[in-house]
Amino acid sequence: MSNFFSSNVKSFVVRSGRVTSSQKKALRDYSDFFCIPFSEKEVSLKEVFENNNPIVLDIGFGMGNEIIDFSIKNPEKNVLGIEIYKPAIGNVLNNIQKNNIKNIKIINYDAYLVLTKMLTDESLCEIHLYFPDPWPKKKHHKRRLVNAEFGRILYSKLEIGGKIKCATDNKSYADQIVEVLSEQKCFQNMNAGYGSRPTDRVISKFEQKAFDNASKIYEISFAKLN
Ligand SMILES: C[S@@+](CC[C@H](N)C(=O)[O-])C[C@H]1O[C@@H](n2cnc3c(N)ncnc32)[C@H](O)[C@@H]1O
Repeated sequence: MSNFFSSNVKSFVVRSGRVTSSQKKALRDYSDFFCIPFSEKEVSLKEVFENNNPIVLDIGFGMGNEIIDFSIKNPEKNVLGIEIYKPAIGNVLNNIQKNNIKNIKIINYDAYLVLTKMLTDESLCEIHLYFPDPWPKKKHHKRRLVNAEFGRILYSKLEIGGKIKCATDNKSYADQIVEVLSEQKCFQNMNAGYGSRPTDRVISKFEQKAFDNASKIYEISFAKLN
């Protein structure tokens, strides 16, 4: 795979998973309508969405159950998804079309670079980071997307009052996320430690895997006070 994506940290391996013919068709037919090309320059999301609705970011949406369900349930919000895995983009494009969803845009690129280059500070009302790649081996912890620098970036992109919601079944990553978010002095943990699972969140592919393995899931939610 090329080094097309490059970031501060190699938080992912670009998998060359098979793109099905239906995903290929969706990538060909719908990308122009729903995908935003990566840009080194900041973009105006208000212009992209052509309205002033609040913007929710979903980082690493995978096969997309959650981003699709959330967008359908929240038509008054704009939803921006970032994902590097092509088959996942094709899958979500198919579901956007099938459900006639108007409030999603997708960026097929490394989330670190999208956040640092394209998104303006205080432009998001909510960030979702569900089941980020856990890199469970100790020698790979440095590859985790949410490190101290990423914690600062997430904080800067949220508007005041904005929230970040994460879930993971990896205890050490959960502790790391809480630790780096707690370092931002105006980020407040909305729970004493971990929270409970929100009943309105649909079960994603990776959450289902965690359920199947009877793994404990750690729910994290922080709000930006100022
Ligand atoms: C474990 S999966 C979870 C997917 C989904 N959120 C779920 O709950 O089923 C993590 C996803 O994050 C994506 N990902 C990992 N690092 C990324 C990055 N730096 N930028 C964008 N996407 C990334 C991967 O391609 C993968 O689809």
